[in-house]
Amino acid sequence: MEMPTPSTQRTTLISEPFDMVVFGGRGDLAKRKLLPALYELDRDNRLPPDGRIIAVSRGDMSHEAFIKLVEESCVEFSTKGKPLDSNVWARFSRRLSYTGMDATSPDAYGALTGMLKDRQAVVRVFYLATAPDLFGPTAANLGRKDLVTPDARLVLEKPLGHDLASSRAINEAVGAVFAERQIYRIDHYLGKETVQNLMVLRFANSLFEPLWNRTHIDHVQITVAETVGIGGRWSYYDQAGALRDMVQNHLLQVLCLTAMEPPISLDADSVRDEKVKVLKSLNMLAGQEAANATVRGQYRAGAIDGRPVPGYLDETDAKGTSDRETYVAIRAEIDNWRWAGVPFYLRTGKRLPQRCSEIVVQFKTPPHFIYPSYGAVPPSNRLIMRLQPNEGVRFQMLNKRPGPGELRLQQTALNLSFADTFGTVIPDAYERLLLDVIRGRPTLFMRVDEVEAAWRWTDSILDSWQQLNVPARPYTAGSWGPSAAIALIERDGRTWHEDDA
Ligand code: BG6
Repeated sequence: MEMPTPSTQRTTLISEPFDMVVFGGRGDLAKRKLLPALYELDRDNRLPPDGRIIAVSRGDMSHEAFIKLVEESCVEFSTKGKPLDSNVWARFSRRLSYTGMDATSPDAYGALTGMLKDRQAVVRVFYLATAPDLFGPTAANLGRKDLVTPDARLVLEKPLGHDLASSRAINEAVGAVFAERQIYRIDHYLGKETVQNLMVLRFANSLFEPLWNRTHIDHVQITVAETVGIGGRWSYYDQAGALRDMVQNHLLQVLCLTAMEPPISLDADSVRDEKVKVLKSLNMLAGQEAANATVRGQYRAGAIDGRPVPGYLDETDAKGTSDRETYVAIRAEIDNWRWAGVPFYLRTGKRLPQRCSEIVVQFKTPPHFIYPSYGAVPPSNRLIMRLQPNEGVRFQMLNKRPGPGELRLQQTALNLSFADTFGTVIPDAYERLLLDVIRGRPTLFMRVDEVEAAWRWTDSILDSWQQLNVPARPYTAGSWGPSAAIALIERDGRTWHEDDA
């Protein structure tokens, strides 16, 4: 989906040269996502010839060693083990350079300043793929060293704080140097093709919008299930947990796109205004109500795909005992005219039986059912938007099973698989997002008020968990989470969607 550039924003064509400075330039995110995504963009001829990528990180590294590291990362994460295209690699590797420096020290910026100084007119992107406590000091130093051109962009990776107060502190610190229009806060879910398709489905077709409300929709489920555990990230994760790590950002963003009003256009503020309204309309869950409407869980040892996996507390880098949740389920409600009384069930967890992210919109059953042979209550129509893997859209409905004799009805699905229909490999979310940063298109990035509204809602849940000592219930790795999560939806007479594709 090509997002138009808002008229108020400076148009930046990808043909314009750019300098992208990646802080944390040899860290995990850079190696797994950013550098391979930039390589892919180059392979697709989307980067201008005069585009440079300057990796910055603590510690020295020779140019050759850095180039080798990037090559290995691209082979591992971009071409999945296959050799890189030699022409593309030759072009891409010429863009790369590495500078060892401590971004928190104003005195360390000499080499970087030297590299940037002759290119004032070039689009300048500072990508902070670092710990969030470095965001403020790095932005301050960029300002102090006069590196922030009027058109420069600052990209921030999550976590944007661990609660509203810390998020505000970050936003204020970077806001002292960069204008809000220059700040690109990443939620990589917004870069996923299928998440963007959610808006296309809703707003480019006339079929859904008239039905998209409390009159016709019974409830909505948003699931982000992962098979991976926390091994290797325990220190970060044990401070965060599933609510902060996944719900505050990814699940709430998906919820916003599912529930928002049609924006007047695709320009950044029109879309973000509508998303903020959803976040502000979320019923604030507090005290006992929050405890009743949420379930926390933590995985114990189990098996996934027949392979034994350790429990959260037995991960190799685990440090002692912890009650941190690796699973969360929430019954949320949106208090507005469109959605009053329609529950939105959210769930996400690590070490679940399959990797699967989807949105399920369940419609109400017909008010009067004339096929008694089928049973008293027909199954509901369900629109299932599969975000990953096997990206696609499915619509479940009743059909007559062909044949004479007794009328037989069967639940069947209209099935649109992206892979079969478009015959293309789905690009990684970072490719779209990096391109949008260079082009100056902020629609798919979070505005400060969105981030803060999302924290306000999650903080209220976190506070009540703490006050009421809501425990993380154990679940076996490879199961669908604690039984209390099943009870959460079943006590409303509903069930979690199970993939029957
Ligand atoms: C990240 C979380 O933001 O998203 C991880 O920190 C999580 O814990 C990841 O695994 C999931 O992203 P994706 O694209 O694999 O669904």
